[in-house]
Amino acid sequence: MSQPQAQPEYYVGQTDNIVDHWAQRTAQDCCAYLLPSLQPDMHILDVGCGPGSITLDLARHVPQGRVVGLDIAAAAPALQKARSRAAQEGIANATFDTGDGHALPYADATFDVAHSHQVLQSCRDPLQILRELRCVTKPGGFVAVRVWDSGSWIVHPPNDGVAAFRAMTGRVHAERGLGPYAGRNLHVWARQAGFDSSRVKITTSSWTFRTPGERAHIGGVMQAIGQESEFAQIALKKGYVTAEDPKKIRDGWQQWIDDEEGLSAVINFELLYHK
Ligand SMILES: C[S@@+](CC[C@H](N)C(=O)[O-])C[C@H]1O[C@@H](n2cnc3c(N)ncnc32)[C@H](O)[C@@H]1O
Repeated sequence: MSQPQAQPEYYVGQTDNIVDHWAQRTAQDCCAYLLPSLQPDMHILDVGCGPGSITLDLARHVPQGRVVGLDIAAAAPALQKARSRAAQEGIANATFDTGDGHALPYADATFDVAHSHQVLQSCRDPLQILRELRCVTKPGGFVAVRVWDSGSWIVHPPNDGVAAFRAMTGRVHAERGLGPYAGRNLHVWARQAGFDSSRVKITTSSWTFRTPGERAHIGGVMQAIGQESEFAQIALKKGYVTAEDPKKIRDGWQQWIDDEEGLSAVINFELLYHK
């Protein structure tokens, strides 16, 4: 555990439809690489838990154990959704805390598993979060991290609005020192953060969006990120986009959603570290 720091800025956006998109995720879909390592009495931490659908699913996998989901202060509405869902679904072994993954508010060697899904590619300092995840994990426990690799992201067929969206998000990431290759660098970051490489296993799994429902869902999220998120505000302020670009981006995603042949796929990289 290190000393607390100022809350970092998280700029992907937390509009209702972005958070509701995260809330559809399950442990089976997002951490199948971890599930075989779980024991029913384990104590799990889920950093950057958002609305907690994965967290609550993990709690079901450890009926004699417990799970803590943690997210930053700016995610308070998502954490509230997580708490309400736990109550509605009668899941008593999951709790939710506010805190920063760069300075976890837990003693060293507290958890059997420290998990994080889709956080490291857009945080202030991925190496620091990895160090913290390892610190709070007990010897013999596991660190489990999954991130996508936007450099592997296919949006087919391409169009100008989607290209403008990708250029905008790429520039905002780049100015924070985060490139489009988070996934393929996960093992490098782990080594730089002091993980023993011989105890690190890397696997991959992909997401595919092709049916009209899948396209409407993911395209709608991208429209929200392109128009309403902190991404869009930062990009406008920095002059990375013009005042007309949000409409162009929205129309580009709509064209892709409406295209019967539209398809999107991306590779996720998974790190499982046995401490
Ligand atoms: C893309 S969402 C993923 C949410 C959830 N893990 C999931 O996959 O459904 C990223 C989450 O990480 C949180 N986050 C970003 N930076 C963080 C930090 N430094 N500490 C804790 N959480 C953070 C965001 O607030 C957001 O809820």
